[in-house]
Amino acid sequence: MVQDCTPRIRSSENSIESVMKVRVSRKAHFNAAHRLNNLDWSVEQNQRVFGKCNNPNGHGHNYEVIAHVIGEIDQESGYVMDMKDLKQFMREEIEDRYDHKNLNLDVPEFMDLNPTAENMVVVIWNRLRKRIDNKHQLVVTLYETERNYVEYSGN
Ligand code: NI
Repeated sequence: MVQDCTPRIRSSENSIESVMKVRVSRKAHFNAAHRLNNLDWSVEQNQRVFGKCNNPNGHGHNYEVIAHVIGEIDQESGYVMDMKDLKQFMREEIEDRYDHKNLNLDVPEFMDLNPTAENMVVVIWNRLRKRIDNKHQLVVTLYETERNYVEYSGN
């Protein structure tokens, strides 16, 4: 009676199908420095809006980033996706790229884009999205501090 255990409810009468989706998540970590600064604003306006985060020589954060992948369980593997692949994608697209870097000076995408947590989570989402099968939904959560975090799901 294996069929009874599959996570699917079908109605052959009206073709309504309800499919179980599971969210799998992996956390990555990087240390990086940044400076919040809008080149179009005056020195005074940057200091007023960004305060200490506008310090000319930057400051650091211990960033935590969580990728949540949502999809159906593959009937053969029992996985939504192979976590070894997700680990590798996060290492290549996030950790290798940002860890121990000055985001404003070392990372091309933030040379002209203010590296706020909001802008960073969108950039990270776009980088991971290219690596993950389109049949899966992707949500990225970025912690800038233990208490401050942002989330992006593509819209
Ligand atoms: Ni900061």
